[in-house]
Amino acid sequence: MRNFRTALYGLVGAAALASASDVHELTKDTFNEFVSDNELVLAEFFAPWCGHCKALAPEYEEAATQLKEKNIKLAKVDCTAHGELCSDHGVEGYPTLKVFRGLENISPYQGQRKADAIISYMTKQSMPAVSTLSKDTITDFKTADKVVLVAFFDKDDKATNETFSDVAKNLRDEYLFGATNDVDVAKAEGVKQPAIVVYKSFDDGKDIYKEKKIEKEALQKFIKAAATPLVGEVGPETYTGYMTSGLPLAYIFAETPEEREKLAKELKPIAEKHKGAINFATIDAKTFGQHGANLNLEVGKWPAFAIQDTVKNQKFPLDQEEKLTVKTVGKYVDDFAAGKVKPSIKSEPTPESQDSPVHVVVANTYEQDVIENDQDVLLEFYAPWCGHCKALAPKYEELGSLYQKGDFAKKVKIAKIDATANDVPDEIAGFPTIKLYRAGKKTEPVEYSGSRSVEDLAKFIAEQGTHGVDAYTAPKVDDEKDDQKPMQAPAASEKVDEAKDKVKDSVKDKVKGAAEKAKEVVMDGDEGVEGHDEL
Ligand SMILES: *[C@@H]1O[C@H](CO)[C@@H](O)[C@H](O)[C@H]1NC(C)=O
Repeated sequence: MRNFRTALYGLVGAAALASASDVHELTKDTFNEFVSDNELVLAEFFAPWCGHCKALAPEYEEAATQLKEKNIKLAKVDCTAHGELCSDHGVEGYPTLKVFRGLENISPYQGQRKADAIISYMTKQSMPAVSTLSKDTITDFKTADKVVLVAFFDKDDKATNETFSDVAKNLRDEYLFGATNDVDVAKAEGVKQPAIVVYKSFDDGKDIYKEKKIEKEALQKFIKAAATPLVGEVGPETYTGYMTSGLPLAYIFAETPEEREKLAKELKPIAEKHKGAINFATIDAKTFGQHGANLNLEVGKWPAFAIQDTVKNQKFPLDQEEKLTVKTVGKYVDDFAAGKVKPSIKSEPTPESQDSPVHVVVANTYEQDVIENDQDVLLEFYAPWCGHCKALAPKYEELGSLYQKGDFAKKVKIAKIDATANDVPDEIAGFPTIKLYRAGKKTEPVEYSGSRSVEDLAKFIAEQGTHGVDAYTAPKVDDEKDDQKPMQAPAASEKVDEAKDKVKDSVKDKVKGAAEKAKEVVMDGDEGVEGHDEL
């Protein structure tokens, strides 16, 4: 009896919850009217079976409840029931989220699929790019989001107004922007017109723009720097931002949230000292420990510290025998900033002999083998796990054998490097990547994008190489000629297939590479960055 009652209560409770949903479920009959009648609507196009939609549901529900009072409506459309409505709106995957300002003004939702991110994003959408503030509204506005900008300028100061408004339009999806002409408000905030202040919910809570001139580019740079926490956290949401910031990133690897918090607090003075020159962030060593290998750290030996030059992709791991203290880390960072720390270069041992027609390059011999010589060097960057690298191997050997003797050998080198075991200065987006380092023009290698046949590779070397060596059509002894024959005129369709294959494979190999690197989810979703990190 008691069980029955409990079950009943449960059902009643669930029913109450369901009817209390603040998400409006729309159909093909109600959608247009709803969107036209409400000023701002976020609509989710979903399918009931979709896992990401299910994960989003509670977040979406929470956001809907919170946004209700701001008169921002959240809606959803079941695309399995209203397929036509969804295809009319260009829905190609689930969930798709779109922001509607009526039926004419529609834009994709570009935030994270978390309640607080949705709330923050939609709140910003609901405001003009720049809100006009008064002494009564500024206090609330300053804390209305994690990062808020306020400009203080005279009402006749058109230039500042325009610059600030332009920047606000560019960055409105990320931050809140407000402005006031009130001299007393400026005074109360401790600034003099014209001034621009960032208010934030972390670190010192406030940053003032200090450049003499208020210019768009300098202002955007200032905002970006001010919006980055002194010691942030590296994760899927922040990784790309750090990698594209143009600043080195100092990682603090630790396994527990408590330890990360403790280290962040201890090392904060160092971050403060190097603010604007080096970014600092903790990283969860339990989940993203494999990323340590990319920084030439020994995985598993935590906590650890490393700096990455995100522009040159150089790594500066701190000796893992060192304890992480303000003193040891502080000195290391000072030395790094002074250019006194040498980058750590991962390299396989130098081969004792080169027996195969393909020259084996390692990081330690890279300069000498590839750059500091007068040869046209064709270099393949491969990964041991990459299927298409394996498929290419015999053809690549055959190619190498064409240049093994005499004058050809002096002028052309066919080489390869395992890019997973050696640090190279090149940006590699997928495997295999093949580049020609031309004699006399080594700083501008040409990437090969043709079909992976011996003939086409040789043609590429002849056409692009400084020495113009044509080894493929060079006269040969008769018995060799027969072997080459089928290659000289590959069917057109074969070539097309191979090109198609190549595109598919570089993506596949990339994905596989990422997967193999255990939980390298830090790079989740960003192909460019992922390529960068496969090194
Ligand atoms: C900035 O200029 C716009 C357009 O002229 C005007 O509507 C707005 O009030 C100005 N903002 C401030 C804070 O003066």
